[in-house]
Amino acid sequence: MHKPEPRLQRKLLVLLLVPLLALLALDAAAAWWTSVRLANLAYDRSLHEIAREIVLHVRVEDGRPRLDLSQGAADVLLRDPQDRLSFRLAAEDGTVLGGDPDIVPALLAPGAPPRYFGDQLHDEPVRFVEAWMPASERAASPRVLIQVAETLNKRNTLAWEMLLSIVAPQLLLILIATFIVWFGVKRGLAPLARLRRAVSDRSHLDLSPLATDNVPGEVRPLVDEVNDLMSRLGRTFEFQNRFVADAAHQLKTPVSGLKAQIELALRESDPERLRHAIAQLYVSADRLSRLVRQLLSLARNEPGALDAVQLQPLDLDAFALQVGMDWVPQAIRRGIDLGFEGVRRPMMIAAEPDRLRELINNLIDNAIRYSERDGRVTVRVSETDADHVQLAISDDGPAIPVVERARVFERFHRLLGTPEDGSGLGLAIASEIATLHKARITLEEDSDGVGNTFSVIFPKA
Ligand SMILES: Nc1ncnc2c1ncn2[C@@H]1O[C@H](COP(=O)(O)OP(=O)(O)O)[C@@H](O)[C@H]1O
Ligand SMILES: [Mg+2]
Repeated sequence: MHKPEPRLQRKLLVLLLVPLLALLALDAAAAWWTSVRLANLAYDRSLHEIAREIVLHVRVEDGRPRLDLSQGAADVLLRDPQDRLSFRLAAEDGTVLGGDPDIVPALLAPGAPPRYFGDQLHDEPVRFVEAWMPASERAASPRVLIQVAETLNKRNTLAWEMLLSIVAPQLLLILIATFIVWFGVKRGLAPLARLRRAVSDRSHLDLSPLATDNVPGEVRPLVDEVNDLMSRLGRTFEFQNRFVADAAHQLKTPVSGLKAQIELALRESDPERLRHAIAQLYVSADRLSRLVRQLLSLARNEPGALDAVQLQPLDLDAFALQVGMDWVPQAIRRGIDLGFEGVRRPMMIAAEPDRLRELINNLIDNAIRYSERDGRVTVRVSETDADHVQLAISDDGPAIPVVERARVFERFHRLLGTPEDGSGLGLAIASEIATLHKARITLEEDSDGVGNTFSVIFPKA
């Protein structure tokens, strides 16, 4: 099964949205990192302040520091609406002076600058400050090591607020861009949707061209091709319709004639007359079968017929002689002198033998049937120029009037008063076959001034 192509609209949106959202994610990560850093910068200062205030409660007695901080004062100092704070205070020799016993002693070297970092306390993430500070204002005062820890609520809240203020406008921008693109593509593709509706709403008999106004430039060639195909289809349909109508019309008369003859024969009781009626029936049936054969041939040789002709190299000189030979008995029966004038060397053309034989047969058949008894029919092959070969069939019969020269090639057209029976299809078929061979068939003034010359000029292979 073949998977349907993704719609252009969806494809464009995905192409645009995926990279934009990926960019947004990258940007959000960077923004989060910056926000956390800024929040720490803001609150580390106040954490250091608290550390200093705790150290302010240190008294130095006999050169030894001591923390003088009541529980109540400590609670006030460490009070915070959002976070929990705890501290640890130690002397230079490592003695713990007060604070939370769970805080791990710091490894900060005496005299080193204060250090800020994230860690865990009581299974909670916290921010630490640790610093060495002088125990009193006096010079040569001992130093104490203060550590203060604070949970991260304030910092997280601030970082989140900063992140949102950066990312939210960007997200909004992407949403708006998406909407604009979606809308724009929809508008841009509207002519295609209209085109699709125009095709689907159409009756299968309507082969008029699709409207090309408002069709986007990229699609225009496709519509033009479709229109071209429709017009070719239209011509074929029209041709077929006309053909079927003509064929039905042409078959009606002989078939009703046949029926009338059968009715008469059925009423016949005398065996000899019955025999005669049946013999006549045979002639009529034969005529009918010839008509049907010609109709089929016409349909088969129609330009653009379904089965393409396979042209092959063929020697017209030898071929015309061979086809002409088949007509000798018929010509003798009518007392006609059938002659052949060739060039006696190969004249190669591209041809389909069966069809070419039919063409030559039709021309010789006419020449023999429509010319005077004891007349002369000549089949001639000659070289007209370096690129063309001519096949000409001349007779002595009554000349076809100049005004009829083109019309005799039309279907079902017969000259008034043509005595022999026929369908008027022979020359139409010959003309179609000539077209299939890229040859030109014409009826010319006869060279000797008597009768007709049908000429077919083929391009050399
Ligand atoms: N060689 C010819 N001499 C005189 N008339 C001809 C000749 N060939 C064709 N015609 C005229 O052209 C008409 C059409 O010929 P054709 O298409 O072969 O149909 P059909 O032979 O069945 O009548 C004929 O009926 C005849 O009137
Ligand atoms: Mg004929």
